Amino acid sequence: WSYTAMRMTLSSTSLPPFLTNCITEDDWDIYSFHINSTVTGRYATTVIKSRVANRMNESKEIEFHVRIPKNAFISKFRMFIDGQVYDGTVKAKEQAQRQYTEAVSRGESAGLVSSVGRTLEEFKTSVTVAAHKKVTFELTYEELMTRTLGKYELLIHARPMQPVQDFKVDVHIHEKAGISFIDVKGGLSTKALANAITKTHADKQAWVHFYPTEDQQKTCDSCGEQGLNGDLVIVYDVNRISSLGDLKRSPGYFVHHFAPSELPRMPKNVVFVIDQSGSMHGKKIQQTRIALIHILNDLAEDDHFGLMTFDDNIFHWKRELVQATEENVKSAKSFARKIQDRGSTDINKAVLEGTKMLNAHHKESSASILILLTDGDPTSGVTNPERIQSNVRKAIADKFPLYCLGFGFDVNFNFLEKMSLQNNGVARRIYEDSDADLQLKGFYEEVANPLLLDVAMTYSGASNLTQTNFSMYYNGSEIVVAGQVTDNNSENFDSQVIAISANKRVRFSKTNASVEFTEVVSDDQIQRVWAYLTVKQLLQKEVVLSGPEKEAVQKEALELSLKYSFVTPLTSMVVTKPPGEETDVLDKPKEGKPQSSREMDLAPPVHPGLGLSVYPGHPRGHPVRYRLHHDPVVGLYVNGELDSNVKGGFNKIGIHFDNSHHVEVGPKLISVRIGQTTTHHSEQVIRRDKEIDVAAGDMRLVIIVHGQTGKELLWPVLRQQPSDNFGEGILGEWEKKKACFALLRPVAKFTVEEV
Ligand SMILES: *[C@@H]1O[C@H](CO)[C@@H](O)[C@H](O)[C@H]1NC(C)=O
Ligand SMILES: *[C@@H]1O[C@H](CO)[C@@H](O)[C@H](O)[C@H]1NC(C)=O
Ligand SMILES: *[C@@H]1O[C@H](CO)[C@@H](O)[C@H](O)[C@H]1NC(C)=O
Ligand SMILES: *[C@@H]1O[C@H](CO)[C@@H](O)[C@H](O)[C@H]1NC(C)=O
Ligand SMILES: *[C@@H]1O[C@H](CO)[C@@H](O)[C@H](O)[C@H]1NC(C)=O
Ligand SMILES: *[C@@H]1O[C@H](CO)[C@@H](O)[C@H](O)[C@H]1NC(C)=O
Repeated sequence: WSYTAMRMTLSSTSLPPFLTNCITEDDWDIYSFHINSTVTGRYATTVIKSRVANRMNESKEIEFHVRIPKNAFISKFRMFIDGQVYDGTVKAKEQAQRQYTEAVSRGESAGLVSSVGRTLEEFKTSVTVAAHKKVTFELTYEELMTRTLGKYELLIHARPMQPVQDFKVDVHIHEKAGISFIDVKGGLSTKALANAITKTHADKQAWVHFYPTEDQQKTCDSCGEQGLNGDLVIVYDVNRISSLGDLKRSPGYFVHHFAPSELPRMPKNVVFVIDQSGSMHGKKIQQTRIALIHILNDLAEDDHFGLMTFDDNIFHWKRELVQATEENVKSAKSFARKIQDRGSTDINKAVLEGTKMLNAHHKESSASILILLTDGDPTSGVTNPERIQSNVRKAIADKFPLYCLGFGFDVNFNFLEKMSLQNNGVARRIYEDSDADLQLKGFYEEVANPLLLDVAMTYSGASNLTQTNFSMYYNGSEIVVAGQVTDNNSENFDSQVIAISANKRVRFSKTNASVEFTEVVSDDQIQRVWAYLTVKQLLQKEVVLSGPEKEAVQKEALELSLKYSFVTPLTSMVVTKPPGEETDVLDKPKEGKPQSSREMDLAPPVHPGLGLSVYPGHPRGHPVRYRLHHDPVVGLYVNGELDSNVKGGFNKIGIHFDNSHHVEVGPKLISVRIGQTTTHHSEQVIRRDKEIDVAAGDMRLVIIVHGQTGKELLWPVLRQQPSDNFGEGILGEWEKKKACFALLRPVAKFTVEEV
């Protein structure tokens, strides 16, 4: 990267028009970009391969920057440069950090930030490539397909950052049971690109190829001069020929997919516990009302339901569960329409009351479900998270699952997650977005049709099983169990499932499997499925444990992650580069970190010294500070300090986000303050050679350092913004891969003139 000097001056006399600043064209060329995804037996392995040439006559730092599904584990990364292979290695996170902390704190290492969006994580690294040389980046990630509402969805994100001559996405699905349907969806599956997609469906196999031309890569909806930017979603389901499901076995391992569908519906008893505290104000409460009305409409006549709202008090629609008759639903809907936000948040009281209602309504052969929706921390009544968890656990006593929906980023998601997992449920984040009502409704649909209760899966001739007992099985989902085979004599390997169906105890076993259900497959893959599932479940289990038990589970998860080379929250991928270059350390971020705080919206706490202060007629040579950007949703503030004697950039940039992070960047110095602690290292702030990366939520800010040594100036650029962008300010967006960035939408009164 090289930059021409920026040409601008700022003065305070009139409103600026608009300013763009161009940097010299870089000439590196992604001449080939392939994504190859192979799904065998519902386990997907995807390889992204990018080949880049440095067409310049000097060496260049070349970036590899892709996004992968959150659910996946990266398992391999390699670079090929000049006949050499550089393999990433997976190490224990602590070890990797100890080893590289020194370099990191010196600001030398370019650690890799994986910012968390709704469904995607980011992988980024870079390497210096000599003049006229090439580099190939190859990233592999793996994931077990999850069945939701009767389908699997394989998500492929394509964003090579420039139009690519040889661009290909190849998906191959291989399924012994047979593929019942396959569809291609997502933002890239549009009319403009329709003829670039081919889909072949042949019973047990299916192929999807997506080969857009360079022109097509610029013309699709979300694509532009930077080429493709969007998702391809392969949606499919498989045939289910046996009610016992699909059992695959290798000499050492087995995996069992269980998803019977020909079962009677089971009436359910559901209680909705809805937070109506003051923080739900505005759009959130509105979307909650809309979602509730839809959900109430979808109740079946033989369902029973309860509805209550809470702040520091409880507001019953009715004190007990009632049948979902037309009349009752109508009355509940009118209650839902009138939900108002007010007060504080007493989660403890509300969940206990919901539990009491369900306990009072115990009925044989029906499925009870408690759904809590909240957007904040407990602030009234019992507020200690552990005490709430312990109270709730005692009250529910494993009788039914508790699902917690955390609305927005102000919730203590870890608290909700732990509470759900302790009570056989799961926690889900509802993203504050225009489709929040659909997210709520979508979640409800997943649990709307319970088919089985108390599902116990048993296996003979096997050990080291993943979870085998499930409180519920919902129509459209799937239970997956994997384990090690202890007896190679297939006669001795057997499975059966016992559960409660609508009106009776049912048993699924080989005897009523209409066809042979076991299939012998290669060991390696099935072993990885087992490892993947085991690690995922251990990471979940770890959440609810503490002390030595937690450590033991972590240790086991770590050992497996290392053995199978999975990048999990316990491990890091260390990317060693050619001699003379820094080592990159990639971490997988944890879901559930609160990312911004509500207080930011109400009273933006401008960090002292970084506030907006525009002085008309300021004396020359004195620093002036400008508010460059503000995003109320992310809670991001960017301020720039300008020395009016010096043209071409800022002396200092101040960034404030997450309500706790204060980052001050000068050309030489980065200081990071998180809460009260000052540090020189933060996962969210990464110093590279001529850039400083700051990740705040799913926003990425890059501060470019330019100019001569001794006179370096800073220029902040938004390189990535959330799709729902509420930001405002003069900070421009990165316009093209390497051409221009711009100052847009001026808010402060000053003149920008080009000289
Ligand atoms: C995709 O990967 C699979 C498995 O490694 C391989 O067999 C296949 O040839 C690859 N397909 C393409 C188009 O490269
Ligand atoms: C190649 O480098 C030389 C200096 O080393 C420079 O003068 C020349 O303009 C460069 N050529 C190109 C095409 O960039
Ligand atoms: C379960 O879902 C399938 C389609 O996915 C549907 O045909 C069936 O009727 C559903 N069963 C119940 C009880 O809802
Ligand atoms: C699973 O459920 C069965 C039957 O209800 C029970 O006997 C067994 O102890 C349970 N196993 C675990 C690990 O909870
Ligand atoms: C089963 O067979 C595999 C390969 O043939 C072997 O590695 C394994 O040790 C055997 N397991 C047992 C329990 O005999
Ligand atoms: C399967 O067969 C067994 C008897 O062998 C029976 O008890 C059980 O109910 C059957 N299960 C189903 C789901 O039909």
